[in-house]
Amino acid sequence: MQDIKEIWKQKIAAALTEIARQNGSVETIQKHQVVVEIPPKPELGDLGIPMFPFAKILRKGPPQLAQAVVAQLMASGATNVWGSVKAEGPYVNIHLEKSAVAGQILKSILDHADTYGRPQSLNDSKIMVEFSSPNTNKPLHLGHLRNDVLGESISRILAACGAQVRKVCIINDRGIHICKSMLAYKEYGQGKTPESEGVKSDRFVGDWYVRFHKMSQEDPTAEERAQDLLRKWEQGDPETVALWKQMNQWAVEGIKKTYERTGVSFDQYYFESQTYLKGKEEVLKGLEQGLFYREEDGSVWVDLTSEGLDKKVLLRKDGTSLYITQDIGTAIFRHHDWPFQRLVYVVGSEQQYHFKVLFKVLEKLGYDWAKNLYHLSYGMVNLPEGKMKSREGTVVDADDLIDSLKEMALQEIREKNREEAVGDGEAVAEKIAVGALHYYLLQVSPTKDMLFNPKESLSFNGNTGPYLQYMGARISSMLRKKAGSLAEAGQFRPELLTGEAEWALIKTLATYPETVELAASQMDPSVIAAYLYELSKAFSRFYHDCPILNAETADLAASRLALSQAVLQVLRSAMTLVCIPFLDVM
Ligand code: ARG
Repeated sequence: MQDIKEIWKQKIAAALTEIARQNGSVETIQKHQVVVEIPPKPELGDLGIPMFPFAKILRKGPPQLAQAVVAQLMASGATNVWGSVKAEGPYVNIHLEKSAVAGQILKSILDHADTYGRPQSLNDSKIMVEFSSPNTNKPLHLGHLRNDVLGESISRILAACGAQVRKVCIINDRGIHICKSMLAYKEYGQGKTPESEGVKSDRFVGDWYVRFHKMSQEDPTAEERAQDLLRKWEQGDPETVALWKQMNQWAVEGIKKTYERTGVSFDQYYFESQTYLKGKEEVLKGLEQGLFYREEDGSVWVDLTSEGLDKKVLLRKDGTSLYITQDIGTAIFRHHDWPFQRLVYVVGSEQQYHFKVLFKVLEKLGYDWAKNLYHLSYGMVNLPEGKMKSREGTVVDADDLIDSLKEMALQEIREKNREEAVGDGEAVAEKIAVGALHYYLLQVSPTKDMLFNPKESLSFNGNTGPYLQYMGARISSMLRKKAGSLAEAGQFRPELLTGEAEWALIKTLATYPETVELAASQMDPSVIAAYLYELSKAFSRFYHDCPILNAETADLAASRLALSQAVLQVLRSAMTLVCIPFLDVM
């Protein structure tokens, strides 16, 4: 639709400029000053252009101006091909010439199979996106799944707009959390391995973390002994470092398997153990420059009260690093490795304050790119059963959740006797599970807290991932079966596609590129999710109202098939943006 809107903006701007000239003004109205809206009711037209912004410049009331513009457009013969115009109060409303517009839109979709919906609005920009960023003391949980799919989806959306995107992850492999798992393992797990226990390796490490918390309830010295272990690690004690390496390797290996399963990937991993010393060095540099101050106990602080924030500790009294210390180092390494225009941190909303402070500290340290850092903050996700608590081992493990969704999908396939039709039932069920999960998580705006309802996410006839997958499979199978013969028999004539359902569907297809652009500018994949639902509803209506294979003429059949082909193309493209696997059969 963008193309069509541009054409109309141009025409209206020219008409306004001409009206100005007739009134003796040299004012030129530019295309970009013209705003195009969608009228609230379809009877009013397909596009509406408010005259308010020009009333003052051209010294005419908006309604008179609307009439003058319409008269001018008629007089110049500018209205025949692309539609007709009508003045409606302060608006110039446009009724598009369906056949011409349908032809133009479908042609641009079918001719640009790989590039339709890639608006290029972010051409030449370099955007780094950080997401997931797990700690190595436990497997990924439901919260990570929301984070992962948000980060992956945003990255795909930004790339679709032409940006160069680099996906990065910081593995928090250092600190007290991993020492706790290490301690429990040291005391109760010597000799055991994930293989010997038959457990996925990240889960294995997480089980020791849960075990530590049981230990610490019975033994008050446990905390202190974990701290000892951290000190030993910082001093480079070989035995401690060796155990740390082993446990981290188990954790990271397992976590990467989950990424693979959900279609999430990174261009680069950063490890806290490799960046925290850089952070410490920067803090000490800032201290020397008088940007920070030392408390009596020896700890180093930054005072951000004049910027509306608080005082915040940057190094502990014993000189050890904090979470923020490593983040300072990591950001600097990242900009050095790949000078980005923007760095987006996909991290939970409970860390808002942390990022405000981090960005200010980096700015104070003189890094001018610090003003291009952005925290994409997202809300909590829980199950209807209630809150998750990692210490008590009641978190919903990501793998377990996907397994149970997959089991439910498999059952449904069996119940419907679709096992033979779908081929590899396990593989299809896994894709349905991932599609259900991702769509459910992305359909809500990132900032909102949410409940994940597994049953609802899998429903085949609602606003769900599987519903979209089903739609895709249905169109695919129709095209596979009949496309060849019918398309050959008839001729694609877009001007035949002017029925109400066809027109509504074409208009929806036409708004895809601007939808992608909007999702990118708002950093919100739910925009694409909502679009997908609109599109599948519009297709359903078309499918119901307009016989395809039994159309009255061969040309009409061929044209409706071409329209279905365009829908499939856009559906598939949009599904990829929100990380829903496409299925040919279901
Ligand atoms: N690992 C951290 C956690 O689990 C999140 C890291 C977020 N990213 C960052 N650059 N601080 O809470």
